[in-house]
Formats: sequence, structure tokens, C-alpha cells
Amino acid sequence: MAVLRAVDLHKRYGAGDSAVDAVRGVGLELAAGEFVAVVGPSGCGKSTLLHLCGGMDRPTAGTVVVDGVDLAGLDDEALTALRRERVGFVFQFFNLLPTLTLAENVALPLLLAGVSSHGALERARAWAGRVGLGHRLGHYPARVSGGELQRAALARALVHEPALVIADEPTGNLDSENGQRVLELLRSLNRETGVAVLLATHDPLLASAADRRIPMRDGAEVREPAADLLSAVAVKT
Ligand SMILES: Nc1ncnc2c1ncn2[C@@H]1O[C@H](COP(=O)(O)OP(=O)(O)OP(=O)(O)O)[C@@H](O)[C@H]1O
Ligand SMILES: [Mg+2]
Repeated sequence: MAVLRAVDLHKRYGAGDSAVDAVRGVGLELAAGEFVAVVGPSGCGKSTLLHLCGGMDRPTAGTVVVDGVDLAGLDDEALTALRRERVGFVFQFFNLLPTLTLAENVALPLLLAGVSSHGALERARAWAGRVGLGHRLGHYPARVSGGELQRAALARALVHEPALVIADEPTGNLDSENGQRVLELLRSLNRETGVAVLLATHDPLLASAADRRIPMRDGAEVREPAADLLSAVAVKT
């Protein structure tokens, strides 16, 4: 069963003359363990598509099925619950809560799911160790580096063992060294846990590390420039 299936998704923001068709008829499917990159120029609809696929926003038309559940059949409360249980999110600007320590931030999805604070913090500490932050557990977000923040965000996205991780420009606010480290970590966690990852990126390195790319332009999927094909032709001639 696909972890994520989106069929003919459309998203229109606004109405009348100011309407923007941010996503126009995109379909995609992710199997467990797949790592897929949505790529394309600024404004082409990557974030909108990710929001629809992660249940953060509802499509104007089309179907999203996450882990076997059709999101259209869920009211807002049930959608929030599904998002909390089955999806993990990583954002460009990390989105950690400034008043919580890194360990508490990582524990948050478990606390929201009703896990006891003792159990949640224990699992959060283990995850923080896994992303190389065992020595930063008690630090507040303002006191750590961008790379450390994003590694904490990766732990937070995975701590509740979701089926799907949605990552919007996860390296977009990092220097190349930290971006590379976050990329390698996300890739290895994807391989170790079998979580499916759908990410949006401008970063060619990140895009090339994906199993598959979904190139977008003006809200729609376009055919990928056939780099493989071109190099195959170059070898032959
Ligand atoms: N809440 C909104 N209301 C109105 N228009 C929006 C809204 N969010 C996005 N848009 C518009 O929808 C289009 C797609 O935006 P989106 O943020 O999905 O693009 P993107 O590919 O993620 O861009 P970037 O690479 O800059 O992050 C853009 O034209 C944008 O201006
Ligand atoms: Mg975006």
C-alpha cells in the first residue's frame, strides 16, 4: 500500500481576479521508504503541494490518501489527529518552540499524542542522541546553531514513528556543510526507519540524493529534463 497517494490535486487561493491556481492537477504516489524530491522554481507550487499532501491544508479538488486514509473524509479534528500521528514535518526555518529545550521540542509530538512526560522525554533523548545532539538536550533553540536546530527538527519529525515525513526546503537556511549533514542524516534515517520522505528543494545536491524527482512548473508536474538520457546519449556517441 502506498504511504501517500495524491490524485489530480488542485489548489486555488483567493477568488475572482486575484485567484491563484497554485497547484493544477498534480498526482503522485510514495511507497514506504521512498525519498522523493519536488523541485522547481520559486512560486511553482512546491510548498502548496506539500501542505496538501501532509494534511496541513485542504485541496480545492482532488484526493489525498495518507497511510490508507482519505483525508477528505476527516473533519478538522480528525485531520489534526492523523497529522500528529502519521506525519512528521521539517521546515526551512526549523519551527522549534523557543521556550522549550531541544529535548522538550523533540518530545512534543509524543506529549501531544498522550505519552507520559517521562516516557516522551526518554524517547526524545534517545532520538536526540541519534541525530548527534545528546550534548545539547537542555539547551534552548536560541543557544544552538542552525544545523543543530534542523537536526533537532529531524528528531522531532521522526520521534513518533510517522509513516511519512514532509520536509519543505530542509536545507534552505543552512550553509553547505550543515546542509550536507542534514541531508545525510535525513537520508540515513529514511533508510533505517523505512519512513517515506517527500521534500521540496532548490538544492541540486538534495534533489540528486532522492530516489525520484517531481519537477514542477506553474503548479503542474513537468517532464524531468532527461539528464540520464542525455548522458546515456553522450556515452554512446
Ligand atoms: N496563502 C496564499 N494565498 C495566496 N496565494 C498563495 C498563498 N500561498 C502561496 N500562494 C501563491 O501560490 C503560488 C505557489 O506558492 P508556493 O509557496 O507553493 O510556491 P513554492 O514553489 O513553494 O515557492 P518557493 O520555492 O519560493 O518556496 C505562488 O504564486 C504563491 O504566491
Ligand atoms: Mg516553498
